[in-house]
Amino acid sequence: MNPILQTTDVVKVFGGLRALDGISLSVEENSITSVIGPNGSGKTTFLNCINGIYKPEEGDIRLRGKSIVGASPHVIARLGVGRTFQISRTFKKISVLENILSSVLDSEKPIKQLKEEALEILGRVGMVALKDTLGEELSGGQQKLLELARLWISDADLILLDEPFAGVHPDLKAEFYKEIKRLREQGKTFLLISHDMKSVYTLSDEIVVFDLGKVIARGTEEDIKNNDKVIEAYLGI
Ligand SMILES: Nc1ncnc2c1ncn2[C@@H]1O[C@H](COP(=O)(O)OP(=O)(O)OP(=O)(O)O)[C@@H](O)[C@H]1O
Ligand SMILES: [Mg+2]
Repeated sequence: MNPILQTTDVVKVFGGLRALDGISLSVEENSITSVIGPNGSGKTTFLNCINGIYKPEEGDIRLRGKSIVGASPHVIARLGVGRTFQISRTFKKISVLENILSSVLDSEKPIKQLKEEALEILGRVGMVALKDTLGEELSGGQQKLLELARLWISDADLILLDEPFAGVHPDLKAEFYKEIKRLREQGKTFLLISHDMKSVYTLSDEIVVFDLGKVIARGTEEDIKNNDKVIEAYLGI
């Protein structure tokens, strides 16, 4: 067992609300771990604590054994943590190709090579024809794809995905499953949040279920499908 990420008793409070109420979770290197749970159960807040947008009031978050609590998002990104956002953050006034290149601004590779890589990645997500289109002209689903494409070209080795498939066509989702699995084979680790249970079941090595800021279950598809607490809090709705 070799966790790339380990959180211990993480607490995040907003006013009187304990959005995270003692989350302890470990993510093994080269795995795909999914976090599911009802709306408002703390999933996005958890990612925001991992990548430094929020600082938890209590608890510890370790990346490869070193605490990253209090580090800025920029520093955590440099340590190899990449993420997508539930609401896409595409740069509106630059092209699709430039959006991808924006995630490798400090790369030492020659720009020609980076452009070739960016075009190859766009090809894989079926967006080459849109390379000169401005970010603001993309549909919601296309922005989701662009967010993923930006991660593929970066050196991130722990990738946090917040609802990456929302609004993405089923055929393209299947392509993404292949791509995520391929990247996992190459050594990347994924922490996925999704309400799309088919995606979760198709991809996950382990599924963790949140409810009211706590972990209420973890295990395989079978484990969580047969867990009474999960059925009551989530799957049974
Ligand atoms: N910045 C904030 N200020 C105040 N409350 C917040 C803030 N961010 C999140 N919350 C609250 O914390 C709780 C957890 O929210 P969070 O966004 O983490 O849920 P989620 O599990 O990602 O839900 P969803 O499935 O709807 O995306 C919610 O009750 C939410 O209203
Ligand atoms: Mg969320």
